[in-house]
Amino acid sequence: MTGEGGYRAVRYSNVAIVLHWAIAALILYNLATGLFGEWLPRGAFAFHISSGITILVLTVVRIVWRLTHRPPPFLPMTGGERALAHGVHALLYVAMLALPLTGWAMVSANPPAGSAGAAFAAQGKPASKRGPILIWNAIPLPLIAPINDIGRTPEGVPEQHELHERLETIHGLGGWLMLALLVLHVAGALKHQFIDRQRALARMGLGRA
Ligand code: HEM
Ligand code: HEM
Repeated sequence: MTGEGGYRAVRYSNVAIVLHWAIAALILYNLATGLFGEWLPRGAFAFHISSGITILVLTVVRIVWRLTHRPPPFLPMTGGERALAHGVHALLYVAMLALPLTGWAMVSANPPAGSAGAAFAAQGKPASKRGPILIWNAIPLPLIAPINDIGRTPEGVPEQHELHERLETIHGLGGWLMLALLVLHVAGALKHQFIDRQRALARMGLGRA
């Protein structure tokens, strides 16, 4: 099949396309609720963790798929453009793993329920009766044990608290970096589509290839 432009009309596989857009939608929701939550209705954040863990799982599937399937050949472009596109894609994959992982580490950095550390952290107030975090209100999220255990004893609580703060800073900065990568990524796609007049978006399933 030869497209109007003379080059082969190629797109990513359907699996890659579905994963790309499912993950993109969830990431936009997480960036919106993480970065701009104060302007959103109350409760918008409710599925941030569920969505974030889903992003992690889908990204692992996507990376396995990518490593075991050949993507379509690049559009005709200069070596510099190709390097930039590759670099941004690679950094997007890093962010798609690092944001969920730092989030997961952050929620793990609390004293384990019922521990002496939890009682110490509550400072005499009745310890919270919160159960495990439920993903999509159904699946309990296991906490990362070595991080969770730091606060098991009262001595570990300040250290764990500091780790929590550091993870929160990294997670928040990561969100801004991811947004910047996304702006570059979308700008690249639109440039190839509308300035170079290539069928760039069709490669990811938007419009006919
Ligand atoms: C959070 C949102 C998004 C993420 C994380 C993301 C991530 C990625 C990644 C990692 C690739 C590389 C695929 C590969 O491994 O070869 C890719 C490809 C692509 N993305 Fe996105 N993307 C997002 C949103 C968008 C949006 C909004 C558009 C449309 C404007 C778009 C258009 C494309 C296109 C056209 C390709 C194919 C590039 C090529 O021709 O090789 N993406 N995306
Ligand atoms: C791609 C996925 C994710 C993105 C883009 C994202 C993005 C963000 C951003 C930008 C913030 C605001 C940070 C700040 O307060 O400065 C945030 C907050 C937060 N995120 Fe995520 N996140 C993701 C996944 C996760 C996951 C998987 C978890 C937990 C398992 C999580 C837990 C949290 C929590 C608890 C907060 C509130 C922190 C606070 O107390 O301010 N996030 N997220």
